[in-house]
Amino acid sequence: MRTQCLKTGFTLTLMFAAFAANAADALPRVMILATGGTIAGTGATSTTTVGYTAAKIGVERLIEAVPELQKVAHVKGEQVFQIASENMSNEHWLKLAKRVNEVLKQPDVDGIVITHGTDTIEETAYFLNLVVKSKKPVVIVGAMRPATAISADGPINLYNAVALAGSKEAVGQGVIVSLNDEIQGARDVTKTNTMTGNTFRAPELGSLGYMVSGQAKFYRSSTRKHTSETEFDVSKLETLPAVDIAYGSANANTLAIDAFAAAGDVGIVYAGTGNGSLSTSVRTRLTELRQKGIHINRSSRVGNGPTVRDGENDDNKTDFTVSDTLTPQKARILLMLALTKTKDSKEIQRMFYTY
Ligand code: DGL
Repeated sequence: MRTQCLKTGFTLTLMFAAFAANAADALPRVMILATGGTIAGTGATSTTTVGYTAAKIGVERLIEAVPELQKVAHVKGEQVFQIASENMSNEHWLKLAKRVNEVLKQPDVDGIVITHGTDTIEETAYFLNLVVKSKKPVVIVGAMRPATAISADGPINLYNAVALAGSKEAVGQGVIVSLNDEIQGARDVTKTNTMTGNTFRAPELGSLGYMVSGQAKFYRSSTRKHTSETEFDVSKLETLPAVDIAYGSANANTLAIDAFAAAGDVGIVYAGTGNGSLSTSVRTRLTELRQKGIHINRSSRVGNGPTVRDGENDDNKTDFTVSDTLTPQKARILLMLALTKTKDSKEIQRMFYTY
């Protein structure tokens, strides 16, 4: 009888071990590519939530600080670079995009998380949304409080991001930004508050869903093309076309756009007032610059609603394009990539209505 009980106990132990091993093998494999930001930041005290130093903690320490990651994925980490994201450049983007596309080609990678500063996270997300050539999830995550602060949001944001990047629900959804238990699409998300944890919103077009106890709950998808559906390829590019943004206001002048033209820009995004309105002097100068070959995209400083063709300007006459609902900072990204493909304004406008 005793021998039989021992045999049964041993068998059950083996079965449990096999089950546990199978469960572990079933976990998705997620690569974390670290770039810096507040999620890797340190402050002088535990109550320092502004005025801290971003981009101090390496990716291995970020992973070690959240042991729960091991319950939702097999995680590996790589430090691509370590910067505060206000310093993000076109060259950083090209390096990151090439690495993301390399990693996603690996059959033993199911998804990618990118840790990033929140200042330009929306721009990196949109850039990658246009140049990543895979349907595998790419989730960009940041934090509004440094790792050293009371109630730091980085650890839970990182946990959610890894769970999301390993989820089947996120496949084919394009590049995603996830903080504060929310799932935001790369095209429409923007930072709406300089300090608070719920800063990332898609104010009128809405988020894609929520993270609920590590589970992805999607309620909608983007209607615009992204990732493997786009026509853009940066794999052989070392630089991007020079495109800058000028900002409209009362008492507007042409100093900024003159400087951009003198510096050799091939495109200018103008963040006009209202529906992309231009003062008379600015309109005249932008029209002259267009005639010299610089592409002009009319956008708006307002932040919501479409900038519409031939509303505040006769765009057919001046040969300008409009940014639709893209913010000026995202219009710059699409105009740069468009100019790697074409100089035809009609083709560029098609791209603004496609992505
Ligand atoms: N310096 C800012 C950045 O790296 C800090 C903001 C943040 O990461 O939350 O974007």
